[in-house]
Amino acid sequence: MKPPTRIAPSILAADFLHLEAEIRKCEAAGADLIHCDVMDGHFVPNLTFGPPIIRQLSKITKLELDVHLMIKAPERSLDAYREAGAAAITVHQEVSPHLHRSLTHIRSLGAHAGVALNPSTPLQTIEDVLDEIDVLLIMTVNPGFGGQTFIRTMLSKIQLAHEWREQGRAHYSMAVDGGIDPATTPLVIRAGADTLVAGTAVFRGDIVKNIQRLREAAVC
Ligand code: DX5
Ligand code: ZN
Repeated sequence: MKPPTRIAPSILAADFLHLEAEIRKCEAAGADLIHCDVMDGHFVPNLTFGPPIIRQLSKITKLELDVHLMIKAPERSLDAYREAGAAAITVHQEVSPHLHRSLTHIRSLGAHAGVALNPSTPLQTIEDVLDEIDVLLIMTVNPGFGGQTFIRTMLSKIQLAHEWREQGRAHYSMAVDGGIDPATTPLVIRAGADTLVAGTAVFRGDIVKNIQRLREAAVC
C-alpha cells in the first residue's frame, strides 16, 4: 500500500548563511523530513558537507534528517552519519558492491536503510535485497547538482517500483529526487512515489508558499 505523501526539502538549495532560519520555515510549512545531500567530489563532481553539519542540524530541528550519501565507499561512513543524527541513510547502488551488508548495517544502527538509483541504473539491480530496503530513492536527474531538468523516462521505473510494492514484494517508501516542482509532482505521485525531495522548488522564493504549492500539486 502507498504511504501518505511526504515533503523533504533538500537543503542543497538553501541559503547556507541562514540555514537555521530556512529550516524553521520548512517546519512552519509542515515539511516532513530534511533531505541532506552529501557529495564527495568523486562519485559526483560536486562537494558539499559531512557529519559536522548534520550534527549541527540535528541539534536545531526535530524533523528527521534524511541523509543522501553521494559518495564513494559509503559503507566506511555509515556509523559517523548515524552518530551525527541521521534518521535515514541512503547509499547509492552504483558504489555499493556489498549493498546487502550496507543496508543491514544501517538498520543495525537504528536508522532507516535507503538505496538510491541513478537514472541509468535499472530497478532490477536491487531485486535481491528488497527485504532490506526501507527507503528507495529514485533519482530523476543525474546526481550532483540542484536545478536540473526532470528526466521523464524515470516515470516507468517509479511505476515498476510501485507495482513491486503493490504485489507485496517490497515495503519501502519511495522517494523521487531531482527536478521535482508543482508541474512534475502530479506525474510522480500518479506513478506511485510518496516522498518528494525538492531543493529549488522549495528554497527559491517563499519557502512556506512553495511547500504549500507542492502539497496541493500532490493531491491529484
Ligand atoms: C541532486 C540532489 C538533489 C537536489 C535536488 O544530486 O540529490 O537532492 O538537491 O535539487 P532540485 O530539487 O533543485 O532538482
Ligand atoms: Zn538528494
